[in-house]
Amino acid sequence: MRLHTAAAILTIDLNALVANWRLLSAQVAPARCAAVVKANAYGLGANRVVRALLGAGCREFFVALVDEGIELREAIGQDWPSDARLHVLHGPMPGAEQDCLAHGLVPVLNSLSQIENWQALAQRSGRPLPAAIQVDTGMARLGLSAQSFAKLLDRPDALAGILPTLLVSHLVSAEDPSAPINELQLQRFEAMRAHLPHVQACLANSSGVFLGPAYHFDLVRPGAALYGVAPIIGQSNPMRRVVRILGRMIQWRDVAAGEAVGYNETWIAPRPSRIATVSVGYADGYLRSASNRACLRFDGIALRVVGRVSMDTVTVDVTAVDPDRLTPGALFDVLDDVQDINALAQQAGTNAYEILTSLGTRYRRHYLHDL
Ligand SMILES: Cc1ncc(COP(=O)(O)O)c(C=O)c1O
Repeated sequence: MRLHTAAAILTIDLNALVANWRLLSAQVAPARCAAVVKANAYGLGANRVVRALLGAGCREFFVALVDEGIELREAIGQDWPSDARLHVLHGPMPGAEQDCLAHGLVPVLNSLSQIENWQALAQRSGRPLPAAIQVDTGMARLGLSAQSFAKLLDRPDALAGILPTLLVSHLVSAEDPSAPINELQLQRFEAMRAHLPHVQACLANSSGVFLGPAYHFDLVRPGAALYGVAPIIGQSNPMRRVVRILGRMIQWRDVAAGEAVGYNETWIAPRPSRIATVSVGYADGYLRSASNRACLRFDGIALRVVGRVSMDTVTVDVTAVDPDRLTPGALFDVLDDVQDINALAQQAGTNAYEILTSLGTRYRRHYLHDL
């Protein structure tokens, strides 16, 4: 890897990813564990992530968009196993059904019109076609409402032309086990499922896995936890860290007490201070809302971000570091096991999903994989 020109290095530990998938699989057995790899596997690289998980035995994958599915199938090419399935959570836009079929994608059908369009394609194809059906149990985002589901079931040919792969719904607040909506959604899902008892069921996302076996059904659908996101609020994180970022220092300077650092003078040095400029910014997903709140680390010392995060740089207070060690190009830990995506998310006032999916394309990406 050409390291000397890299300004920042994003390391993706595929061994940790696979260990996380295995942990979740063991937690839900005999139910199966899929992998949600939408948004380029939450920014980490769908091709590499899917290949690692295929190698570990994962056979069920979910993306959001037909275009994501096509790109992924093309990237994996001949290595896509015949027993693996790639579901598309949004289902096809009108007119995209044939593309879905041609690329071996299984749509998740969310509305009566998506179901009708898929049935029409099955009729034209002269054979039933696999598809999942999503029902809405509380998210009010995607899936058939209770009324639309009842309307569907009233039709004598309700699922004609469809080989139903899964009945799907999505949890609203699974990361908070005390939220009453979890149990309510479970009851609604079970009631709807009773009408299609022979169809396999899939409800839980990462956090849902930790709500207990009642939520596991036949298949669980984690994304975030695979990538190291803590699944339950306020509890220690059982997942291994997958992402590490090293940023390189460009230069440092001494500032006098009372001098400002960064755009709009949001930090004024309370004492003479040494400030290092590290080559990571909000264009790299180091969110501007982390300004004056987050920390980087150097040699295990936590160093506060001072002043506004800029597009390409972040400034940190390195007064505690021996200046002889601050050589240009020195590596700072932007994300490590201590200051991880979960901690940064908290400091930046967002969730770890947004941190991951904002990481951007400028990092030198380095995949650890020795399985
Ligand atoms: C429908 C659906 N299922 C599963 C997931 C995976 O959720 P998580 O990343 O919380 O495991 C998502 C992610 O947003 C989703 O939208």
